[in-house]
Amino acid sequence: MFTFKQLTLPIIQAPMAGGVCTPELVAAVANAGGVGSFGFAYSAPKKIAEDLAAARALTTGPINANFFVFAPVALPDVGTQQKAISALGNLPIAEDAFTGDLTVPSEPFYPDLNEQIAPVWEHKPDMLTFHFGIPDAHIVDKAHALGIAVGMTATCVSDALAIQAAGADFIVAQGIEAGGHRGVFEVDAADEELNTLALTMQLAMHCSIPIVSAGGIMDGADIRAAINAGATAAQLGTAFLCCDESGASAAHKHYLINEDKRGSVITRAFSGRPARGIDNAYIKHMQGQAILPFPIQNTMTGPMRKWAADTNNGEYQSLWAGTQYHRSRAMPAAELMQTLSSEMA
Ligand SMILES: Cc1cc2nc3c(=O)[nH]c(=O)nc-3n(C[C@H](O)[C@H](O)[C@H](O)COP(=O)(O)O)c2cc1C
Repeated sequence: MFTFKQLTLPIIQAPMAGGVCTPELVAAVANAGGVGSFGFAYSAPKKIAEDLAAARALTTGPINANFFVFAPVALPDVGTQQKAISALGNLPIAEDAFTGDLTVPSEPFYPDLNEQIAPVWEHKPDMLTFHFGIPDAHIVDKAHALGIAVGMTATCVSDALAIQAAGADFIVAQGIEAGGHRGVFEVDAADEELNTLALTMQLAMHCSIPIVSAGGIMDGADIRAAINAGATAAQLGTAFLCCDESGASAAHKHYLINEDKRGSVITRAFSGRPARGIDNAYIKHMQGQAILPFPIQNTMTGPMRKWAADTNNGEYQSLWAGTQYHRSRAMPAAELMQTLSSEMA
């Protein structure tokens, strides 16, 4: 079974859904002594199998497969659905941004985790991590039987204690600085919004399994600070987005490097769940507008996000990034790992 002691560097390249985590990125990080992760959130089993096989052909190092734990979701009343459709339909963008009529999707609203995870049992990555909640016990048991270590995201002590009680091997402590979706279990519950170091210290005090810090960690000094706060390793997402091997869109990379004054904000407008990204026109237009629950809103905005990526328009894509994105560095992943290593020393 994977343990953090195997790592040359206590670094996990964060799982990032949406095409960012190419097999080349994952393998480069694993070959450099860290953990390379895939974000398989919405991916179909065939793609998951292909990505795991492609990365394994490039590295014998540790690979992590990450999944969302979707919760049952109900559509709101027809009036709210109409308002959400109008909010998207009234955006000041080209008519072809939404191919066909804007309609609310029908069930199933999200992929079946048991189907998605089948390739994991075949390809046996070293780690399996979950975002938004705790998967069924049989999944944790099966991973352990196959020698796969299991981790889950927590944003507060109570979620971390539930994760530990579920038999996880480590906890990803995701602070408020983190880019991408916030891993809160209950979207409508009050959010303590703890920062990464404060959360790491609290979890290290209350939990007995390893803690991995995530959120706003960009250089070796930040990794040291997380370890001094009680973390066993650090999970960096934004720091890897501008790597040569990253599949982030051209506009995403451009805004990370050149649009530092915009800052990042937390919005539900893209997916229905709170997520942090670089502020843009879409986020501004959607303030106060009707938004459908996760992941229905995500499906609804999918064609617009694809159109924006295809036309290199950064104003209508989700430019997920942490608060520290202005410290992004563009270089090959192996060089970034080497740089982080020197900075830690
Ligand atoms: C583009 C992007 C996509 C992300 N997608 C996922 C995901 O699919 N699963 C997940 O557990 N975390 C996801 N995250 C969150 C990361 O795991 C991690 O918490 C975050 O990147 C840490 O903050 P940082 O971006 O400031 O390093 C994503 C983050 C980013 C930036």
